[in-house]
Amino acid sequence: SKKWVLMVTAQAPTNMSVIKYWGKRDETLILPINDSISVTFDLQHLSTITTVSVSPTFLHDRLWLNGKEFSLSGDKYQRCLKEIRSCAGDVEDEKKGIKITKKDWENLHLHIASYNNFPTAAGLASSASGFACLVFALAKLMNLKEDNGKLSAIARQGSGSACRSLYGGFVKWFMGKNDDGSDSFAVQLADEKHWDDLLIVIPVVSSRQKETSSTRGMRESVETSTLIQYRAKEVVPKRIVEMEEAIKNRDFQSFARLTCAESNQFHAVCLDTSPPLFYMNDTSHRIITCVENWNHSEGSPQVAYTCDAGPNVVLFAQNRKVAALLLQRLFFHFPPHPDTDLKSYVLGDTSILQ
Ligand code: PMV
Repeated sequence: SKKWVLMVTAQAPTNMSVIKYWGKRDETLILPINDSISVTFDLQHLSTITTVSVSPTFLHDRLWLNGKEFSLSGDKYQRCLKEIRSCAGDVEDEKKGIKITKKDWENLHLHIASYNNFPTAAGLASSASGFACLVFALAKLMNLKEDNGKLSAIARQGSGSACRSLYGGFVKWFMGKNDDGSDSFAVQLADEKHWDDLLIVIPVVSSRQKETSSTRGMRESVETSTLIQYRAKEVVPKRIVEMEEAIKNRDFQSFARLTCAESNQFHAVCLDTSPPLFYMNDTSHRIITCVENWNHSEGSPQVAYTCDAGPNVVLFAQNRKVAALLLQRLFFHFPPHPDTDLKSYVLGDTSILQ
């Protein structure tokens, strides 16, 4: 009777911020210094698949990422697991003769196996899909009654940006006011069908691990940059309002203007950090210049660009026609080649969690 195993598999997409989160006011609870907004990617290209299992024969909690075992002893995993266990419900499977009560979860151990279908830690937010998927899968396995808002607040404690991957479409993460983090969670602004003309194009500039983790980078920015405080207090609140309006009205001109300005200010904060953080490389700069030139020659934005804590640039095309032209242009100027920086292209749209 001790031989049973229960399993749940979930898939979660990653997300790309268009109003950036950079800087924490509380490092343990992961509470940000400003609100942020993101677009969730489709499951086909940029997502994590996680299988979680539980059995009385498991001796301790264990984790495998892309087939390699990793320790779960880090604070971020421990906080997430502790919170989920505290919300766990009763689970019953009559056919298998399994009955797990709320209290049993404290003594049962979990095995977690997770796969990314894209390069880990190259500024394509693998921690976002990873923690969102982990929390979502465990919530199903352990029969949590909490809504996605509460789950997003748990995922937030694994990786800030993960709280925005609990929803598809367009998502806002409220920084919140409380010290305990209870009001720092994500909500959906519009679902994936709202703006289905919008297309995402990612020239994969590099699949190398980034040099400075976002945790360390943010800490150094908060400690040394003077621009970051001005940005959080004076710039972001206005842009949040404008971006919500742009998304609501499917106003690509405003969406593009704000997205590009946000990316550039985020990298300006990185440069304003001591020692400076260089996340973009020559190829990222050249791609941005190529887009700027094109937008300028057309007289209005056709494509928006944004780049996180790594060299990969994420592009948003106004519609499918523009995306096709953009791909042609990119292929001409940046042909993928094993010896160059550019490896491949990803074409996607927005999607939902499964
Ligand atoms: O939560 P993290 O460690 O993945 O932080 C990511 C921060 C940025 O990707 C640079 C910006 C954002 O809003 O996602």
